[in-house]
Amino acid sequence: MRVCSIVGARPQFVKAAVVSRKLREAGEEILVHTGQHYDEELSDVFFEELDIPEPEYHLGVESDTHGRQTAMMIAALEPVIEETQPDVLLLYGDTNSTLAGAIVGSKRDVTVAHVEAGLRSDNWAMPEEVNRVLTDHASELCFAPSEAAVANLENEGITAGVHWTGDVMYDAILDARERSRRRSTILDDLEVNENEFVLATVHRAGNTDDRSTLTRILDGLADAPLPVVFPAHPRTVGRLREYGLWARATDELEVIEPQGYLDFVRLLDAAERVATDSGGVQKEAFFLGTRCLTLRAETEWVETVDCGWNRLVGADPDAIRAGLREDWTPESSPHPYGDGTAADRIVRLLQCGLDVDEPERPF
Ligand code: UD1
Ligand code: UDP
Repeated sequence: MRVCSIVGARPQFVKAAVVSRKLREAGEEILVHTGQHYDEELSDVFFEELDIPEPEYHLGVESDTHGRQTAMMIAALEPVIEETQPDVLLLYGDTNSTLAGAIVGSKRDVTVAHVEAGLRSDNWAMPEEVNRVLTDHASELCFAPSEAAVANLENEGITAGVHWTGDVMYDAILDARERSRRRSTILDDLEVNENEFVLATVHRAGNTDDRSTLTRILDGLADAPLPVVFPAHPRTVGRLREYGLWARATDELEVIEPQGYLDFVRLLDAAERVATDSGGVQKEAFFLGTRCLTLRAETEWVETVDCGWNRLVGADPDAIRAGLREDWTPESSPHPYGDGTAADRIVRLLQCGLDVDEPERPF
């Protein structure tokens, strides 16, 4: 079995790391990095810490308008597929790199497989929603992290090739939590104590690309009862500077560089709570037992809200303030995202091809 895996952005490195390890034990993997994330702290550090092999191909497509960036990835990826003739094209998540892979794969004789299939925000203004819906519809194999994701696919008429595998990020965090507790010195470096700070991340275009929305989020975070550690994504740094908000942000928050995975997991594990608009961070907070405020009006990870670990506060400063101050007790957590063996299940399913019968309720 020859699998070509496409990655390009930070969360995809985390997801692919656990699958890639298993894939290379079972067969041949050709890893392609599109280049969507290229800064050392958004890319290289993940390859080093997570022991991801050097990509066989690096497409070198960096930041651009979404249309041009996706188009350049498509143009660069097609010859790689032509040259390597993989059996499977394996895609992760919902970025422009994912969509480029889906388009190339759907036009060639290769099985397209999507990890993290079936997630829906029902917010068509999010570029990620467009990417994930189109990718699911172009995929022959859909690996869904949760039962709700399977139901979302069914609602859109996608039933063949759908497998509830659990979530690969759960596999990843089970390993990283212990490693980060042993190895990371980030709490000492930042001089913060466990449960005595709030962690915050913001990078979603809907939050960063509008001055008033970004200001409202700052207003809410600035009133936190604890210091706020803010690893800033380059998109957010750019907008804060452009809108004249940089001095205020660095004055009121502990703004730091984007962190490597182990330091970030340590921060998330130790934080009193987290405020974020990241998809991955919402889930990881749930896995680590850290209460989460989601700086969005909706989430794809509905289970985290249903069991009380996650609250949707949008960009409303009053809701953010209240969320940061109120005490609340989540329900004891069920395990809606599998049992930490998603990568094994995915690799086994890839080996079986399209005609495998899986139990409807694997967990
Ligand atoms: C992308 C994904 C988003 C994902 C996020 C993970 C899309 C549409 N968006 O958003 O789903 O949650 O990655 O972090 O695919 N930049 C740098 N250095 C880099 C990369 C980006 O400075 O290495 C800056 C550039 O100014 C760029 C901006 O960040 O224009 C945005 O980068 P881009 O890859 O377009 O989107 P993200 O916001 O990173
Ligand atoms: N992450 C990290 N360092 C940071 C911020 C995030 O290692 O400074 C990790 C985080 O643990 C998660 C992934 O990056 O595994 C989430 O990426 P991001 O928030 O950029 O994207 P999203 O999940 O929203 O697509």
